[in-house]
Amino acid sequence: MNIQVFASEARLDEACADLIEGLLRVKPRAVLGLATGGTPLGVYRRLIDDYRKGLVSFRHATTFNLDEYVGLPEDHPESYHAYMRRNLFDHIDLPPERAHLPNGNAADLEAECRRYDALIEEAGGIDLQLLGIGHNGHIGFNEPGPALVTGTHVVELAEETRRANARFFRSVDEVPRRAITMGVGTILKARTIALIAKGTDKADIVRRALEGPITTDCPASLLQTHPQLIVLLDRDAASKLSPAALGAAAPGGRTV
Ligand code: PGA
Repeated sequence: MNIQVFASEARLDEACADLIEGLLRVKPRAVLGLATGGTPLGVYRRLIDDYRKGLVSFRHATTFNLDEYVGLPEDHPESYHAYMRRNLFDHIDLPPERAHLPNGNAADLEAECRRYDALIEEAGGIDLQLLGIGHNGHIGFNEPGPALVTGTHVVELAEETRRANARFFRSVDEVPRRAITMGVGTILKARTIALIAKGTDKADIVRRALEGPITTDCPASLLQTHPQLIVLLDRDAASKLSPAALGAAAPGGRTV
């Protein structure tokens, strides 16, 4: 595990964008796993800026998003389809036919889950998966519980997740109750995972995920088993990590 702690959000965003751009430079046909939520917004802004400066192109890339709500129209402003268009896709040269999200409005949701996993396989698997972390330790929409599912599947959202996401809707009642998410197996198959977290409100869960026991009660703790995990944190999100996690257990980790 490589943990990097940044003095500001801007530095973190820059480093994460550099990671993605570096991959695209050596592998223009890279397959990127993308995330939604508040955390990656700065990374996407940075990618758009660098695209406008001619520093990066997504022309040959393929992307797969982690998740999408069930039953929210794609043109609803809070659907993840709309989020991705607004915050990234509309501003770069990624061909729309290679920008994939699960279809939360499919008539047969089970078939849609199998289709999504097959598409990822056909694309050769995910090279770099960008991940945020929920306050309850979820990754994608893999919520804590007695068991986790490996492939893409339909989930009931935890009440905590619905409350956290209510800030994007008029009220918590409008937040969908179900979503389609990549499973933890799908996520862990990515060749490299970049976990990003910002803010003091994430400090406890970051510590649990990286230093606590590996348990389905904290799905992000499974990331400890991944051979190529890069963790990008701002100082606040890193504030509860032990010196051991920041030093000895993190070869290459540094404060930037
Ligand atoms: P956030 O969400 O980036 O909006 O904090 C992260 C997550 O729930 O995975």
